[in-house]
Amino acid sequence: MKQLPKKIEERKDDHIQICLEENVQAWRTTTGFEDIFLVHKALPEIEREKINLSTVVFNHKFSAPLIVGAMTGGIAKATKINATIAEAVEELGLGMGVGSQRAAIEDPKLEGTFAIARKKAPAAFLVANIGGPQLVRGYGVKEAKKAVDLNPLQEAVQTEGETNYLGVLNKIGEIAQALEVPVIVKETGAGIAAEEAKMLEEAGVAGIDVAGVGGTSWAAVEYHRAKKAQNEFRRRLGKTFWDWGISTAVSLVEVAQSVHLTVIASGGIRYGTDTAKALALGANLVSMALPILRPATKDSEEVKQKLQFLIKELENTMFLVGAESIEKLREVPVVLTGKTAEWLRMRGFKPELYARRKV
Ligand SMILES: Cc1cc2nc3c(=O)[nH]c(=O)nc-3n(C[C@H](O)[C@H](O)[C@H](O)COP(=O)(O)O)c2cc1C
Repeated sequence: MKQLPKKIEERKDDHIQICLEENVQAWRTTTGFEDIFLVHKALPEIEREKINLSTVVFNHKFSAPLIVGAMTGGIAKATKINATIAEAVEELGLGMGVGSQRAAIEDPKLEGTFAIARKKAPAAFLVANIGGPQLVRGYGVKEAKKAVDLNPLQEAVQTEGETNYLGVLNKIGEIAQALEVPVIVKETGAGIAAEEAKMLEEAGVAGIDVAGVGGTSWAAVEYHRAKKAQNEFRRRLGKTFWDWGISTAVSLVEVAQSVHLTVIASGGIRYGTDTAKALALGANLVSMALPILRPATKDSEEVKQKLQFLIKELENTMFLVGAESIEKLREVPVVLTGKTAEWLRMRGFKPELYARRKV
């Protein structure tokens, strides 16, 4: 089960570097949010100053329904990145995830690169992180607990990287039963379909982060790594599968309409308008990763500024649809058009129900 931490370290370093320097976002497809329209309200009948963005999710009070997605840990530069994000989310009353904690589970010397998040954000909502394949290769409740202990509060299981997934659902179920904190299952940029969401609900998880197509693409990251390594086969694979998966908007509706779990929308969410659309489609929280990476390599003020822009845009959108709270925003009419609506209809969902909501 043990791997050379050096190898993991190099790969993680590559990931960060590539995400900072190259185009790693979907390019032949989109999040689907361009198919989604909130109905503008010419008479909003609310006072803008009284708009309240706070929300309670997993029994935790957020000043706005936003978290920074899992990115890193286990390498030297991760300490700074996790620290700056943590400082910003602590100050703003938001939340964050850390990257896969496999490195620290295998080499305790690396624990500090994750634990810094809790140190800098004693009150914020933090999400711990373990990869699905590691569960299959032998990680169990003990390792999951360790990951949670490094960043107490939540546990996330992400599905990425290695290819043996046989038995992963059982393992997720075991962990969900054994841990006292809620278990969230997240994708990393290819989305989650209704069928998997239902299986995960049955297994006992508390939340799903859809992490759909439209933002960061791991195939793209691997494309750039393969190109550097002059590995033609992997380069081609990366290019072919660059945009593979379920768009964020579609995945969000599939999941939100199929289970009674907490749903996090992520994958290419870049604006407060898309954040508002995601919440109106049924998300409880919205998460964003890549746009925070560069500011996080600078300082927490930069991270804060980026997040505050998003919050302001969200507030503005709420004003324009006459929603003075997140609860109200989750009930406003939403029109689903184009490929997104077509997909959802083909799959047996009823997008028109969103459009005909009465407020
Ligand atoms: C540099 C970087 C590293 C990431 N590392 C992880 C990780 O270790 N674990 C994980 O679950 N997701 C990881 N992700 C995926 C994000 O959490 C998120 O699901 C995905 O990037 C989609 O969101 P975005 O389009 O806003 O970036 C990483 C993303 C980036 C940009």
